[in-house]
Amino acid sequence: MKAASDYLSPRSLVEIDVRIKRQEVPFFLRMAVTKEYKSCESGNMATQEQFARGKPKDVLKLVKDAPVPRPAVDEVLVKVHSAALNPLGPKLMSSVPFPIARYPIVPENDFAGVVVDPNGHREWKVGQEVIGSYVQIFDKLRKGQGVLAEYANISTKFIIPKPPNVPFSQAAGLPIVGMTAYEGMFTRGKLTAGQRVFINGGSSSVGAMAIQIAKQQGATVVTSCSAGKIDFVKDLGADVVLDYQVSPLPFQLAKQEPFDLIMDCIGTIPVYRNCAKYLKPNRPYIAVGIDLHGLSTLQTMKAFLSIAASVALPAFLGGVPRTFGVFTMKYDEKALKEMADMLDKGILRVPIDSEYGWEKDDVMKAYDRQMSARAKGKIIIDMQREL
Ligand SMILES: NC(=O)c1ccc[n+]([C@@H]2O[C@H](COP(=O)([O-])OP(=O)(O)OC[C@H]3O[C@@H](n4cnc5c(N)ncnc54)[C@H](OP(=O)(O)O)[C@@H]3O)[C@@H](O)[C@H]2O)c1
Repeated sequence: MKAASDYLSPRSLVEIDVRIKRQEVPFFLRMAVTKEYKSCESGNMATQEQFARGKPKDVLKLVKDAPVPRPAVDEVLVKVHSAALNPLGPKLMSSVPFPIARYPIVPENDFAGVVVDPNGHREWKVGQEVIGSYVQIFDKLRKGQGVLAEYANISTKFIIPKPPNVPFSQAAGLPIVGMTAYEGMFTRGKLTAGQRVFINGGSSSVGAMAIQIAKQQGATVVTSCSAGKIDFVKDLGADVVLDYQVSPLPFQLAKQEPFDLIMDCIGTIPVYRNCAKYLKPNRPYIAVGIDLHGLSTLQTMKAFLSIAASVALPAFLGGVPRTFGVFTMKYDEKALKEMADMLDKGILRVPIDSEYGWEKDDVMKAYDRQMSARAKGKIIIDMQREL
C-alpha cells in the first residue's frame, strides 16, 4: 500500500493541491497530506520579524499570518524544524541600516528542516531532510529572508542532505561555526597531522568545532577558556588548556612549545601582538574577528589602530613579524558535507548550550544568552514547538 509520502512526490505544492482536488490522492490519505502542508496551502505561516534597526527585544515581533514565501527559480521551500542563533544575528540587527536591510526581515541564518516544495529541482524531493544556511548576508537582508519562520525559501546552492540519524538540533547548529572552523584550520591554516595549534577561545562554538576537527586531523591542541569550562574543552579533545583569567595569555603561551598555527576564535589583540614569541616564523595567525566586547567607541578605534600598526610596521618599529589573517567564512559545500558525515558517524558533535521555543519571550531569552558571550555551545530554537 502506498504511504502518504508517495503522494508527496510531485514537484510543487500547487501540484499536490491539484492532485488532491482531482481526487488522485485517496480519501484516507488526504487528511494526512493536507495536515502536513496546511500552512503552506492556506498561504500563511508564523514567523519572527525584524521591523527596524535595534536590539532584538525592541525590534522583533511574532507574526502569525505572514505569507508563506514563494521560492524563486533557484530556490526550494523548506519547513524549518530547528534554527540556530549566531553572534552575527543580533550584531546585524542593531547595525545594518535601511536600505541595505529591507524590513520586514526574518532573523538568523542556520537551520535544519524538510523540503516541502522542490520547485522543479529534481535532485530534491518532498520530505527530504536538509541542513542549510543563508550565507550571503547582504542578499538575505535585502530579500528579508531568514529561518525563525515556519517556512523558508533558500537557494539550492546552500543546502545539503541531513543524515537521517543526526537530530535536527545538532544539524541546525553546524553550518556557520563548522565551516568557519574548517576554513580557519584547513583551507587557510593548512593544518596537518603532527602539528601544534593554539585555539584561542576553545569553549566558543567555533572553537569547539575547531578543537574536534584538529584532533581528527592528528594535531596537538592547546586552547584557552575560563576555569568553569576546562572539563568541557578537554572532553572535546584539547590536550592542554590555559585558563585565560589566571594570568595574561601571552605569558602562558610563551612557556609553551612554538605553534604551527594559531586560530583565534575571539580576536584577543594582545595574543596577536606578542605571537612572535610562540608562533613559528612564516606560520599564520588566523582570526575570526577582533574582540571589541564592552569597548567604547574610542577604545574600538584604538584597537583597530593597534592591529593596523602591528600588521603594517616593521618589527623594529613595533610591528609583528607574523601575518594576521582575519576572514569572513565562505560557504564550502564539501566541508559541510564532510562534517555532516562526521556527525552521522558520531566522531563530531555540535555542543548545544540551550534550546528554546519560539514564542517572543523564549526567543528573547535565547538572544540574551547569545549576547552574553558566555554560552557553551549553540543556542537552538525548536521551531516545531506549538505557539
Ligand atoms: N569570521 C567569520 O566568518 C565568523 C563566523 C562565525 C563566528 N564568528 C565570530 O566568532 C566569534 C565566536 O563566535 P561563536 O559563535 O563561537 O561564539 P559563542 O559560542 O557565543 O562564544 C561564547 C564563548 O566564548 C568564550 N569567550 C568569551 N570571551 C572569551 C575570551 N576572552 N577568551 C576565551 N574565551 C572567551 C566564552 O567562554 P567564557 O565564559 O569562558 O569566557 C563562551 O564559552 C564571534 O565574535 C563571532 O561573531 C566569525
